[in-house]
Amino acid sequence: MSEPEKKNEAVDPFKPYKGRYESHPHLPKTGRDREAVFNEMASMAERENAQWKTGKVSGTFYHAGDEHRAFLNRVFSLFSHVNVLQVDLCPSMSKFESEIVAMTARMLNAPAALARDPHDEVCGTVTFGGSESIMMPMKAYRDRARAERNLSTPEVIMPKTAHPAFNKAGEYFGIRIVEVPVEGPDYRVDPAAVEARINDRTVALVGSAGNYPYGLVDPLEALSDLALKHGVGLHVDGCLGGFILPWIEKLGYPVPVFDFRLPGVTSMSADTHKYGFGLKGTSVVLYRNKSLRRDQYFNVPDWPGGIYASPSMAGSRSGGLTAATWASMVYLGEAGYLKAARAIMDVADRIQEGVRGIPELKVIGQPTFLVSFRSDEVDIYHVNDFMGEKGWRFNCLQLPPAMHFCVTMPQTEVPGIADRLVEDLRAAVDYAKKHAGTPARSSALYGLAGNAAGNQAVADILYGAFDHLFQV
Ligand SMILES: Cc1ncc(COP(=O)(O)O)c(C=O)c1O
Repeated sequence: MSEPEKKNEAVDPFKPYKGRYESHPHLPKTGRDREAVFNEMASMAERENAQWKTGKVSGTFYHAGDEHRAFLNRVFSLFSHVNVLQVDLCPSMSKFESEIVAMTARMLNAPAALARDPHDEVCGTVTFGGSESIMMPMKAYRDRARAERNLSTPEVIMPKTAHPAFNKAGEYFGIRIVEVPVEGPDYRVDPAAVEARINDRTVALVGSAGNYPYGLVDPLEALSDLALKHGVGLHVDGCLGGFILPWIEKLGYPVPVFDFRLPGVTSMSADTHKYGFGLKGTSVVLYRNKSLRRDQYFNVPDWPGGIYASPSMAGSRSGGLTAATWASMVYLGEAGYLKAARAIMDVADRIQEGVRGIPELKVIGQPTFLVSFRSDEVDIYHVNDFMGEKGWRFNCLQLPPAMHFCVTMPQTEVPGIADRLVEDLRAAVDYAKKHAGTPARSSALYGLAGNAAGNQAVADILYGAFDHLFQV
């Protein structure tokens, strides 16, 4: 990194290119030289890739290696100009999407649903990401309850550890999200606490496989029983784990049943752009039957622009991303996903073993590909401060304070990475002990959240940061 760049980063880590490259607050009068534009962008990409290629970044980069990425980029270029909505012009999109959905459904044991009930032919749609794959079924449950139960105040019950996309769905679609606290010792939601909150406004329950904070699978068997008992839906959020847990299970690890084998599961989300190893921007939402999927669809039959209909939240969608997702799945196949899961688990197991060997740290639950831990003895945010100095990027958790490392393919490409992580973690605990009683940098924001005034202060800071990001 050059000196001016270093200086710039010290001033503003989000705008390191300010002053280094020309800014464009308005369109250039005449277009710029194509190669110059490309080279400028390539140098940004090269700089940014250097960080995750060290293997020190948790989660975030879910591709399956440089060659795989290059292959997907080639495929993307074939269909980069295509709009998936215009299927009449590009019928390839219908082939790709229907097969992405079918392959995902099969991976998540759709035949078990059909075997139980001939109406339950698992189906779904491709979306632009995990959040949309969560929001769509929430809308479907709301609309179903409106139509069948004349219910205007729907409620969805979820563990506090479920992803904020459910809260987003609540805010966007007028659904009350009822959060159930998740506490130790096993950090999975208590089904009795869920049942206590079910009432005549409940439209669906939520469980994760696995959840973002701890990577853990909720007690889905019990939630499935509750869903059947009370006649409500159950969405399993497999955005994170949907494309890796099936293979971890096949490798022989004790993974709880989390998919359509459970009779109460009515919808699932699984991200092709995470462990599906597609390009960023696609995910799959599945429904137990076609009738439920109907409540996701949207149409305006009397629009002057023509009869309009779209299956999901987005209007126009990228044919390039759809094609690359399909290519990723058929190129890797079962053997490719299994091999990736093996490599990821080799690293994750070693990290888990190492963390368990550090007496001051406590692993949360029984992890698989994502290892989270906390401490009763040191300030975990001091641990994160030290790891950050060493170039590691963990994800900091709160309520309770903890941190996690989510293993993806980049770690599998750096020999010895797990041992180095554990070694640095040991030193980080020593650092935390020495700095006990002083404020940790990582806790600056996390210390605020948890009460109304603090939450508002955090929101003001974060929204201010968004404003700043959109500033040229
Ligand atoms: C468990 C879980 N659900 C949902 C999401 C949301 O996915 P996206 O960021 O693709 O919208 C994530 C993202 O990390 C996740 O980990």
